[in-house]
Amino acid sequence: MFTPYYRPRRLRRNENIRRMVQETQLSVNDLIFPLFVVEGKRVKKPIKSMPGQYQLSIDYLVQEVKEVHHLGIPAIILFGIPAIKDAQGKDAMSDEGIIQRAVRAIKEAVPEIYVISDVCFCEYTDHGHCGAVVEGDVDNDATLEMLAKQVLTHARAGVDMVAPSGMMDGMVAAIRKALDENGFEKISIMSYAAKYASAFYGPFREAAESAPQFGDRRSYQMDPANAREALYEVDLDVKEGADIIMVKPALAYLDIIRRVRERINLPVAAYNVSGEFSMVKAAAQMGWLDEKKITLEILTSIKRAGADLILTYSAKDVARWLAEVNS
Ligand code: PBG
Repeated sequence: MFTPYYRPRRLRRNENIRRMVQETQLSVNDLIFPLFVVEGKRVKKPIKSMPGQYQLSIDYLVQEVKEVHHLGIPAIILFGIPAIKDAQGKDAMSDEGIIQRAVRAIKEAVPEIYVISDVCFCEYTDHGHCGAVVEGDVDNDATLEMLAKQVLTHARAGVDMVAPSGMMDGMVAAIRKALDENGFEKISIMSYAAKYASAFYGPFREAAESAPQFGDRRSYQMDPANAREALYEVDLDVKEGADIIMVKPALAYLDIIRRVRERINLPVAAYNVSGEFSMVKAAAQMGWLDEKKITLEILTSIKRAGADLILTYSAKDVARWLAEVNS
């Protein structure tokens, strides 16, 4: 019988030694919880394609944020769904818009929570595109002016960080300039720097009612086949003044997360998007997968790939699960 000299299994023999040699640890500190806010009172509307996730009116949103804070999750990212959508997405640029009022209410009730706002137009426009549409395509530079207006309303409402997700060229620089010129130099920017035109966003578009009414987003979001282009996008956003760089989606893009991690010294965030979440939920409901184990494995893999922060709809469950492990 051949007896091996090297035996890696020695360090897998029991729980203690496995804990001691574990290389990647998921922490509640890594989590950012996305929330959807709608008009009205006492609205808690289930999002069918994302079991356990809701569209919430501001009153319920505030309660939810209290719970999130209580669970030790440091940050939320907010998506607003206005009552009325129009061609320009006016609600997005109004101090009385849905997001702006939601931020003020949260900051008043739970000042400790770190509030990030998604900065984009697709939830606010009747055509569902991420900016001003001119001749059937999103006009880049006109959208930059709109983004500058939008972030100032978020800043005045009290956000800690803005997260532009529209993939417009120059968006980080335009937003940094608008913030700095108006005394908001302390507000940070997390850029959706490498955001792909992905079918994994399907359920989100139901949640945010933001599906494009014509065409698709391939003239601004990236081709899933491209990796070098992601690095080019990331380099530009670092130069333009982003504080955190995001890769999105996460699970099918672990190679991109790894390459970005190795290239830059800023924190890297990854968005475990709606489709990734809903696939797990569906399989778990069928009894085909263990939801807790698979979710923890996926998020640990995203972290192992190089993400410092993870935006995930599972954040509340994960916070509870991690607390169980440690108690
Ligand atoms: C755009 C935005 C999208 C997501 C986050 N911000 C959708 C899109 O680009 O169509 C998707 C998030 C998810 O799928 O969970 N504002």
